[in-house]
Amino acid sequence: MKLLVTGGAGVIGSNFGAHRVEAGDEVLVLDLLTYAGHAENLAPVLADVRFVQGDICDKGTVDGLVTSDLDAVVNFAAESHVDRSILDSGDFVRTNVLGVQVLLDAVQRSGCGRLLQVSTDEVYGPTAPRQVATERSNLEPSSPYASSKAAADLLCLAFRQTHGTPVLITRCTNNYGPHQYPEKLIPLFLLRAMADEELPLYGDGLHERDWLHVEDHCRALSAVLADGKDGEVYNIAYGEPVPNRLVVEALLHELDKPDTLIRSVEDRPGHDRRYAVDSKKIRADLGWEPRIPLGTGLRRTVAWYRDHREWLEAVTGPEFDQYCAALYGDRKQA
Ligand code: NAD
Ligand code: DAU
Repeated sequence: MKLLVTGGAGVIGSNFGAHRVEAGDEVLVLDLLTYAGHAENLAPVLADVRFVQGDICDKGTVDGLVTSDLDAVVNFAAESHVDRSILDSGDFVRTNVLGVQVLLDAVQRSGCGRLLQVSTDEVYGPTAPRQVATERSNLEPSSPYASSKAAADLLCLAFRQTHGTPVLITRCTNNYGPHQYPEKLIPLFLLRAMADEELPLYGDGLHERDWLHVEDHCRALSAVLADGKDGEVYNIAYGEPVPNRLVVEALLHELDKPDTLIRSVEDRPGHDRRYAVDSKKIRADLGWEPRIPLGTGLRRTVAWYRDHREWLEAVTGPEFDQYCAALYGDRKQA
């Protein structure tokens, strides 16, 4: 296949780009290289991809790359961090909504294969205990990030309905694994624990997330690209929501660090208590199953971050320190 991978220098896009190159695809990457994007994330395959630094909101750039010979555009480009969307939501609406509209227009006009929009389980909002959200559940996003992703999903479905645009949507749970920017829970706490710094756990730490290793997510996206039906939505999940505190304790155990590093701090505003989605559809229709249990995935992730301290140093400059000061500096004890 010939693929345009937008946002291919972020954590999931770069893992996906490498995965597709290894599978023999021709891969073009378009990425703005924001604070979260690093071309080096593609290092093992960088020589094998065509890399363009640019903005998915820029119609000229996108129209130049979305051509009829493409089999698919896979869109990972986004502002992806909930806490940042609480500090300032401007870039979230711009990239996550306007950018997707530019991609949809280009796909529709060019007649290229299809657009796979990589979305999130957060569009469903919180799920009650013992319940799961299916692909037909209502969209009730809580954060500016989640609402920008829900808006993009609705645009994709509206283009499908109105113009017949070949679109697919996936909604995955929390990812973890190599090259994840250390603003997200697992790499942030790894970075801090390795330096014996306190870990700011929000609220009572009993919020539940369903963690999926990025490799399993990439295999799921490949299955959707290969056999998914246009106009369909596919949830992707490991299927075992876990309270944050347990994940953090497991991390500390893996690092041989004490639980006393955990500090309960003021909760995230609008913090969804629990995410849980039903992933029966992708399992039954496309034969996908996750392969990496959380314990194995955490062990591998800890090893990767321990072995890649130079990567952590390279991606955490003064902008990262300013962000941490703004978010955690005055945060009260819970
Ligand atoms: P990330 O923050 O690691 O990477 C995002 C990438 O998009 C970066 O390389 C950045 O430079 C690029 N980008 C940002 N704005 C851009 C623009 N205007 N034009 C071109 N490139 C731009 O994000 P991620 O965690 O890899 O997430 C990828 C996608 O998957 C996102 O759409 C996110 O909503 C979705 N998702 C993420 C998770 C998760 O747990 N990380 C789970 C489910 C879905
Ligand atoms: O569910 C999928 C989503 O998962 C993706 O769409 C998002 O792009 C991705 O960022 C992620 O969102 P979360 O908000 O769930 O991820 P995050 O790693 O920020 O937080 C995970 C949990 O840990 C959440 O309940 C908040 C909590 N947390 C997070 C941070 C950064 C803390 O307790 N302390 C922290 O410092």
